[in-house]
Amino acid sequence: MPSLHITTATGETKELQAATGITLMEALQAEGLVEGTCGGAASCGTCHVYFTNKEIAGEQTEDEGYMLEGLEGFVDIREGSRLSCQLKVTDAHDGLKIEIAPEA
Ligand code: FES
Repeated sequence: MPSLHITTATGETKELQAATGITLMEALQAEGLVEGTCGGAASCGTCHVYFTNKEIAGEQTEDEGYMLEGLEGFVDIREGSRLSCQLKVTDAHDGLKIEIAPEA
């Protein structure tokens, strides 16, 4: 199980063991860390996170990129911004550093 390093929106840090094959949003929802209001349809932005070491996170999906573009000006979009519902957890994500966005 990959180990994820989380910084919450209030600055607390925690380590999370995430099952592979589920979305990152599902892993974070199980801990009460993101809302994920649209259920993973890339249409709400309430699963927004920042990856500090984004090189191990993989590429954005097309839908994810459009949604993040649409959120610009409303939330703090950064270079490491991602929608956690669009990323399936794999062993390659071991050590991923994630900051939860304030609106998630
Ligand atoms: S859960 Fe709505 S955009 Fe990810």
